[in-house]
Amino acid sequence: MLQKPRGTRDFLPDEMEARRAVEGRLREVARRYGYREVCTPEFEDLELFTMRSGEGIIEEMYVFEDKGGRKMALRPEITAAVIRMYINESKVAPKPLRWCYYADCFRYERPQKGRYRQFWQFGVELIGADTAAADAETIMLASDMLNATGVTYDLKVGHLSFMKNLVRDLEPPMQRRVRAHLDKKDFDGLNATLESLDRTELAASLTALVNTRDLEEAFEIAGTIPEKERVEQTIGSLDAAGIKYSLNFGIARGLDYYTGIVFEAFAQNLGAENQILGGGAYRLAHLFGGDDVASCGFAIGFDRVMVSLGDTQARKDTVIGLVCTSEGRKRAVEVGRAFRDAGIRTEMDLMERGLGAQLQHAAKSADFAVVIGQREAESGEITLKNLKTGEQKTLGLREAIAEVEARGSC
Ligand code: HAM
Repeated sequence: MLQKPRGTRDFLPDEMEARRAVEGRLREVARRYGYREVCTPEFEDLELFTMRSGEGIIEEMYVFEDKGGRKMALRPEITAAVIRMYINESKVAPKPLRWCYYADCFRYERPQKGRYRQFWQFGVELIGADTAAADAETIMLASDMLNATGVTYDLKVGHLSFMKNLVRDLEPPMQRRVRAHLDKKDFDGLNATLESLDRTELAASLTALVNTRDLEEAFEIAGTIPEKERVEQTIGSLDAAGIKYSLNFGIARGLDYYTGIVFEAFAQNLGAENQILGGGAYRLAHLFGGDDVASCGFAIGFDRVMVSLGDTQARKDTVIGLVCTSEGRKRAVEVGRAFRDAGIRTEMDLMERGLGAQLQHAAKSADFAVVIGQREAESGEITLKNLKTGEQKTLGLREAIAEVEARGSC
């Protein structure tokens, strides 16, 4: 028997309904903040992803050559593609642009619970606003979106300039290596790297920076940073808005394009793969042939949110099982159409089963049975049976629809 590819999942209808419900809540919050959806291709020129992050990232991607000999990659994330699209299509549009997406990404990772090779992100990109207000609003949106899903999480906010200031006199590749160690909380690796550079004195201040949760203390450890005022304003706005977060200057972010504020959220009830959101301020446009433009955004790891929510997302819509005898079939088709026109999910027997078997099936799959036998076909009325309570009524079609609408999903 053929199986699905490693690291991918099939989603049955119950799961899809639960996913769509959560997706809908995320969309609604994004809409309220003025974000409009965009869509980019599933695959892009490989260069789009290697330009900033180097060839090393190829290890983590699905890379292939198309029939024209072009090197392509399935997108491992969507930010780079959105900025490419912005340069191609919307460079001159009034700023800021507020764009969001819900789309699948592909990473060649070792699969485990919460870590997949195909996974979905709900992300936003705020393009062209380079202010503390922009940074703060993006974090507020992140917090509101996660709240709308119902997950319980910890939000951590940091700023790269602190860490960058401490390692500013290292060569850029070494700065990146230090960041990578900190991103992975790999302190042994950090110590080894600093030793090889003969810079072990940095270990104490980097460790202190990673451990402090206090802004003033972080300024003291990192020394004067040019973004001080902006950081203070951003944090001030978050406090004024009542956002729940903790400061964490150890956030280094795995992707290489971040420049300023960075933030991550962690689900409280997940194990190793508990990061459910990551983002920050970044600059990418100049790499892709556009003018330099400041952006800020984040992506929610949708699958991890769903794992965190567990099986709490029960089906919401009311289902009608339309049950009829052969004499009632013509009328049942009309009745079915009327229920569907009223927006009610209605499933008619297509198996030519007897009335009893149809009712048995309806009891398993529906909330109400609408029964149309010869008597109903002649009288124009229908029998409505509430399958949860067993209560049964003979009603006119309009009344029956009103009754179902009033009862909701019981
Ligand atoms: P990222 O942190 O690489 O950031 O991914 C965002 C989120 O996607 C993660 O926090 C995690 O929840 C989820 N995720 C990542 N890899 C996997 C996987 N293998 N399986 C399941 N979920 C996964 C970005 O991708 C940036 N583009 C975010 C951003 C947008 N920054 C600015 N704008």
